[in-house]
Amino acid sequence: MSFQSQSIVDLLGIEVPIIQAPMLGAVTAEMIIGVAEAGGLGSLPASHLGAEETRDIVAKIRRQTSKPISLNFLCHEQPMANPEQEEAWVQRLRPYYSELGLASEPSRSSIQLSTFGSAHCTLLEELAPEVVSFHFGLPPKHLLKRVRNTGAKILSSATTVEEAEWLEEAGCDAIIAQGLEAGGHRGTFLRHKLDAQIGTMALVPQIVDAVKVPVIAAGGIADPRGVTAAFALGAAAVQVGTAFLFCEEANISPLCRKALKAARPEQTLVTNVFTGRPARVCETRIVRELGPIAKNVPAFPLAASPLAPLRAASEPHGSTDFMPLWCGQAARLSPELSAAELTIWLSKSGERHL
Ligand SMILES: Cc1cc2nc3c(=O)[nH]c(=O)nc-3n(C[C@H](O)[C@H](O)[C@H](O)COP(=O)(O)O)c2cc1C
Repeated sequence: MSFQSQSIVDLLGIEVPIIQAPMLGAVTAEMIIGVAEAGGLGSLPASHLGAEETRDIVAKIRRQTSKPISLNFLCHEQPMANPEQEEAWVQRLRPYYSELGLASEPSRSSIQLSTFGSAHCTLLEELAPEVVSFHFGLPPKHLLKRVRNTGAKILSSATTVEEAEWLEEAGCDAIIAQGLEAGGHRGTFLRHKLDAQIGTMALVPQIVDAVKVPVIAAGGIADPRGVTAAFALGAAAVQVGTAFLFCEEANISPLCRKALKAARPEQTLVTNVFTGRPARVCETRIVRELGPIAKNVPAFPLAASPLAPLRAASEPHGSTDFMPLWCGQAARLSPELSAAELTIWLSKSGERHL
């Protein structure tokens, strides 16, 4: 283990510098337990969960492991209602409703994805996870102070050097450098310049040079070669998402699993059609026809609601047309292992094959 890795292992109280990325909807208690018992850090996304559900999942994890865990929250701006924009989006989706024979009007109600707030702080004070990670920036200062007072170490994602410096200044204990290869939502929060996204190879060393806190590399890392490369660039740890989707513990449908398994790197792209915010997915029909970057899409996460009935109507018939297949560029490197086996395999960063 490198000098940098030792610093983060000590900081987070883990044994190997492998972090299983929070992945909304796909992470299970079993996945986190497997990663934790293998010495890594498992992350539970909690923005879509109610307090009771979060409590139950954390209690389940705590019953089976005494190792540290991370809770993850989104820090997006609460969207302002924009009825005209929402109506225009609904109009664009209407032909799909007709095609699928959906009688009802496209839904306008919001998918529940709350931004980090005071109630989350209260929950963190009760549950006291060892680590709290954020995406889309950080909460306001007074809330961040409450999180810090729980004793949790604080992480957040940066997609540029400027964002990394901002996060360090705001008091992050370590920074996740999220390269453009990464699956799921871009963590971008200072500006949304889509054409200027930076790859992991260029981003990690420049953030390492710019900040004093440990840097965690994320994006396109799915096997020990990627881990070795990240360490060579100065990263102290890696955060891996897509590769964990192939674990038996992942909560993904057989249809999604099959589509991700077949995903070639050139088939993933960054789109805003699913939620209103740029995210890397494996291309499907809706992305091809409305995107990848659609204009005048309702703000995150409002774009998602009218799409949900389309997915619900088509997925049972084996169609991925309206599915958000969140996926990074390195999907095809992912082996099918348990979460514990994957953590151990990744931590053996010198080996090339199983
Ligand atoms: C299915 C999926 C869902 C994700 N959801 C979240 C999330 O809820 N919170 C978060 O901080 N990052 C999320 N991410 C991004 C990851 O934290 C990480 O940046 C990314 O997975 C790293 O790239 P990789 O997928 O190539 O390993 C998600 C990624 C994927 C693939």
